[in-house]
Amino acid sequence: MARFHFVLVFFLCYYCLPFHSSAAISNVPTKLVNDICNQTSNYSFCVESLYSDPRTPDADAYELAYVSFGLAYLNATATQDSIAKLLKNKTASAASLKRLKICKRDYHKAVSALEQAFNDLNSETYFQLAKLAGRAAAAADNCQSSFEGTHDYSPLATMNACLKALSGICVVVSKFFTGSG
Ligand SMILES: *[C@@H]1O[C@H](CO)[C@@H](O)[C@H](O)[C@H]1NC(C)=O
Ligand SMILES: *[C@@H]1O[C@H](CO)[C@@H](O)[C@H](O)[C@H]1NC(C)=O
Ligand SMILES: *[C@@H]1O[C@H](CO)[C@@H](O)[C@H](O)[C@H]1NC(C)=O
Ligand SMILES: *[C@@H]1O[C@H](CO)[C@@H](O)[C@H](O)[C@H]1NC(C)=O
Repeated sequence: MARFHFVLVFFLCYYCLPFHSSAAISNVPTKLVNDICNQTSNYSFCVESLYSDPRTPDADAYELAYVSFGLAYLNATATQDSIAKLLKNKTASAASLKRLKICKRDYHKAVSALEQAFNDLNSETYFQLAKLAGRAAAAADNCQSSFEGTHDYSPLATMNACLKALSGICVVVSKFFTGSG
């Protein structure tokens, strides 16, 4: 499915940049996107990410929730695939494999939380969305911190930063359309 295409692109695209960033930059963000992205940690990353989805120019907050949770979900599942590949490395040290296993668990949690967010959106149950997005961000943090204080460069550093930033967008969007933003 589309997921395999994603994985392929993932390995070609080292930096955490949206696929269609040239199209994204030429768009003037809608007021809603502007208001949402102004509350995230990185305004331009937020605008570029949201505009990598063709629905964004006409999206209301509810649709932007689908867009942002979709981006986070695809990022998280692609990283799961990367972790699975890294775990197959026969020459990796035991310590490095141990950290990767921590990350594998973290990403399993992140993907589960994001799947639940989709179920919630589909069933119009909104009160847990921000919490679920926060869980995905925490998972990325936990994976990243398992590499800190070691000389082992985290092969997942960029991916962790991506998931954290995308989950941050989800948190803001969730607050927007549940009226608590
Ligand atoms: C991760 O997120 C960024 C920003 O939206 C996106 O451009 C990038 O392609 C994503 N990577 C994967 C593997 O989903
Ligand atoms: C972003 O928000 C701040 C206050 O939170 C406001 O002063 C500023 O004008 C906003 N910027 C944009 C581009 O909306
Ligand atoms: C914000 O995101 C852009 C990509 O959209 C990236 O080039 C930039 O370095 C990021 N800024 C910070 C402070 O992370
Ligand atoms: C496997 O692990 C070794 C030792 O850490 C590393 O040098 C090598 O680049 C890794 N190979 C892959 C494909 O990640």
